[in-house]
Amino acid sequence: MKPEIIITAKGHAGTMATLQSEFTSHLLADAPDRNAFLKQHAPKVRGLATFGPLPVDGKLMDALPKLEIIANFGVGVDAINLADAKQRNIIVTNTPDVLNECVADTALALILNTLRRLPQSEKYLRGGNWASRGPYPLTTSLGGKVLGVLGLGRIGEAVAKRAMACGMTIRYHNRNRKDVPYPYDPDPVTLAKNSDVLMVVTPGGSATAKMVNEKVLQALGPEGFLVNIARGSVVDEPALVRALKDKRIAGAALDVFENEPQVPAELMALDNVVLVPHIGSATIETRGAMAQRVFDNLKSYFDTGKLVSQAT
Ligand code: 8YV
Repeated sequence: MKPEIIITAKGHAGTMATLQSEFTSHLLADAPDRNAFLKQHAPKVRGLATFGPLPVDGKLMDALPKLEIIANFGVGVDAINLADAKQRNIIVTNTPDVLNECVADTALALILNTLRRLPQSEKYLRGGNWASRGPYPLTTSLGGKVLGVLGLGRIGEAVAKRAMACGMTIRYHNRNRKDVPYPYDPDPVTLAKNSDVLMVVTPGGSATAKMVNEKVLQALGPEGFLVNIARGSVVDEPALVRALKDKRIAGAALDVFENEPQVPAELMALDNVVLVPHIGSATIETRGAMAQRVFDNLKSYFDTGKLVSQAT
């Protein structure tokens, strides 16, 4: 008998096929009535594969009393209530490592785009301004600048490596100091004060909520840039809009937002911010590897009881 699982939303096509052939799978996104769907499958469902941002809380877990494992598509598990899962002895897995390089590529691209204003200069060219108004105004170099990494984990380290190749120097702040060759700052404000570019790479969730606040932005200062590839929740978005509007920081690049996929109109209207729609890990190769990891975690758990990558 194949184990039964619920898949919350359609994922990578190849992996959907594998999940559907290896397990008896039910797609929540297709259900016209969510409660009826959960009730119908509750007696048999042992696994949940979470694609997309659906919050998974104790209420959903209670609706699936046979649930043993939640396999999340993504390294960040902030949409899953881990305490609720622990209380119910439900295992949570994620997809670390396979996305590090790709997300770090996005981070580097955002540093380049915000300091060198590539999107804005392209808009200038496409708008026919080059011939009529002359060369695009000068921007600022990466070389010699300090990158402050807020959250030096596996992705943060991959970002640091890339930034150093561009001539930047690195500092960082973490909850705990690490055995790394970069200078440590004891808090986000000090890190921002010492950095030209502040790179947010922390996990989401309550421990980091609004960690980048008015004070941190003030410390970053009018020459400083903010890049966020972590979670929108880590940055106080209204405070960031105010700082960008008043030119109290030089610019920002954001891959993530407080209320995705909604992006505040005020941010959209600003010229000193680069905005991309949560594409950090969004390549065919990386999303394929992440989806494969979701499958591997479920398969390994149901076959052997072992996990490939447990979230906590
Ligand atoms: C994905 C991510 O965009 O891994 C994460 O935590 O944020 C991204 O890689 C997301 O998981 C897609 O749902």
